[in-house]
Amino acid sequence: MRVYFDYNATTPLAPEAMEAVVRATREIYGNASSVHHFGQHAKATIDEARSALAALIHGDPSEVVFTSSGTEADNFAIRGAAEAVEPTGRRHLIASAIEHEAVLNTLKALGRRGWQTTLLPLDQTGIVSPERLREAIRSDTALVSVMHANNEIGTVQPIAELSAIARQHGALMHTDAVQSAGKIPVDVHALGVDLLSVSAHKFNGPKGAGALWIRRGTRMQPILTGGKHERNRRAGTENVPALAGLGVAARVAAGKLEVEGERIAALRDRLEEGILRGVPGTAVNGIGPRVPNTTNISFDRVEAESLLIALDLEGVAVSTGSACSSGTLEPSHVLRAMGLPAHRTQNSLRFSLGMFSTQDEVDYVIEILPRLVEKLRGLTRKPVPA
Ligand SMILES: Cc1ncc(COP(=O)(O)O)c(C=O)c1O
Repeated sequence: MRVYFDYNATTPLAPEAMEAVVRATREIYGNASSVHHFGQHAKATIDEARSALAALIHGDPSEVVFTSSGTEADNFAIRGAAEAVEPTGRRHLIASAIEHEAVLNTLKALGRRGWQTTLLPLDQTGIVSPERLREAIRSDTALVSVMHANNEIGTVQPIAELSAIARQHGALMHTDAVQSAGKIPVDVHALGVDLLSVSAHKFNGPKGAGALWIRRGTRMQPILTGGKHERNRRAGTENVPALAGLGVAARVAAGKLEVEGERIAALRDRLEEGILRGVPGTAVNGIGPRVPNTTNISFDRVEAESLLIALDLEGVAVSTGSACSSGTLEPSHVLRAMGLPAHRTQNSLRFSLGMFSTQDEVDYVIEILPRLVEKLRGLTRKPVPA
């Protein structure tokens, strides 16, 4: 049996999106900037995708700028807004400590160019408290960036409340909705944000296609300069097949958001309960409100990488938040920011479910895990009694 429980890393294409990608690749080869029939066919395809994505996030199609990825959307949001705001003297940026590297490393890069940056801490529930933002925000804060849903633990942040605080202080609000769009309702107006990033491959669309929603009237400096594509906001000939797939995936996701959300949440809860019941010494990380598909679980006295490999050998794909760099296991920055002890941050696995996940798969994982964990625990040396 092969089980894919790593939907937060990337998702398989929805069958309808696959169709759209194949059809566009075969038939729609014109350059969307060309005035002839072939070009206009490409442009119409992109416009359709733009409307579909706008509908998924309740924005206006004219406010959607397509990008090559969620990473580019995050870069554009932060660099584009920062550069546009810079002449006003605002030189301070805020983000949460649990952002994706696309945000964290962009802030670091701007920090090296003289921007001041503040990372908001969070509590053990995995939620950024509005109080922390109130304490950190300043009169020269240009932008606040807090992700809608976290990729490792799935917690959903109180974006509307955070946006209101940013607005009161004249700062722009960006949210990285890469892990929420297509999983839970996303409404740019209800969230009160100015900028919102998405990525197609997280909602059963193709890889290498994303978008930044930019509230009308928000001043942005393009980060890619060149032709007049995307209303002068993002240069580069559009990837029509990928955008066609993105649009169809957005429509599919929007059409069954509630039903799929409930189905997947039931599977996730069954998996989580089954693991907690079947494996002693386990705990769920991130207990605030969560997206329906994600659970992050720490396993006492087990090295996460070893368990990941043991699961892989049994056909089950999951991921760990910790990254192996220069031979040492770096604990997850998300779990560390939550203030969890080392034994929780270094041995956690993320299970993320999605479109093709089934109850049989969940039950298979619940069945094999206790044995794998027991075996690994048997291999770890017991602490010598004092
Ligand atoms: C929260 C979040 N933001 C941004 C990204 C980057 O998106 P992309 O893979 O499209 O560059 C990811 C992908 O893992 C993510 O989970």
